[in-house]
Amino acid sequence: MAGITDGKFCREIASYGFDMVTIGGYNADKPTIDAGCKVIARGRLEFDIKEDGLISTIKNEASIIKDSWNGRVSVNLRAVSFKPIIQISKLENIDVVELNAHCRQPEIMDVGGGQALLNEPEILYNLTKKIVERAESKVSVKIRANVPGVDYIRLSKAVEDAGADYLHVDAMKPGHDCADYEIIRSISKSTEIFLIGNNSIKDLKSARNMIDAGADGISIARATIGGFLPFDLSLI
Ligand SMILES: Cc1cc2nc3c(=O)[nH]c(=O)nc-3n(C[C@H](O)[C@H](O)[C@H](O)COP(=O)(O)O)c2cc1C
Repeated sequence: MAGITDGKFCREIASYGFDMVTIGGYNADKPTIDAGCKVIARGRLEFDIKEDGLISTIKNEASIIKDSWNGRVSVNLRAVSFKPIIQISKLENIDVVELNAHCRQPEIMDVGGGQALLNEPEILYNLTKKIVERAESKVSVKIRANVPGVDYIRLSKAVEDAGADYLHVDAMKPGHDCADYEIIRSISKSTEIFLIGNNSIKDLKSARNMIDAGADGISIARATIGGFLPFDLSLI
């Protein structure tokens, strides 16, 4: 999920010791797909999946990974409605559906998706709950830290109360090239949910800092680009 979204890339990266890889993000319902078309028009080509090809694309990308790997496959989805997410949760090779409350592309936010969900804890709660109640896979919610006006403790508790299995936090700290470990620490202290800490993990030190701050797991995006990781994940 750093601009490269496909199964081939995830399968290569999986060999470095991950127990879960994430494909996507994909726009999963009509409002986000229409918004994605506008994003594509200004050059973000990774948003280019058509509504009628979405399920077959996800099936295909997931099977590329699962055909030769036993770990879990998550799929990151931008949506403002639950039905398409439920359909995807039923696919054979999908272990986790991840609701994207993270994307800050204005077109996605304009339809109430991605980061716009952070300012609407009740909507995020209701959407997550509907997904949790119906999904046939585990459910994750991915959020972005340090968006002005967001009460992260309230938001994290809403995700936990809705029954999600994972809270995936991009602990971005504007103006810094390290994560905001404090926000991870405060969410960890306030909830019991499995917390995946993300942002700027590029070596053992940054990975361990994230775990020490209270994350139960870590995720890595940009440092995976280039086909290698600069450190051995089993050492964390
Ligand atoms: C080009 C690019 C595309 C991204 N696309 C997605 C996405 O579709 N869904 C998502 O949840 N995060 C997306 N991200 C965010 C990353 O998954 C990650 O949260 C962020 O880059 C911070 O982690 P990192 O420091 O390990 O890269 C994207 C990041 C980049 C750089």
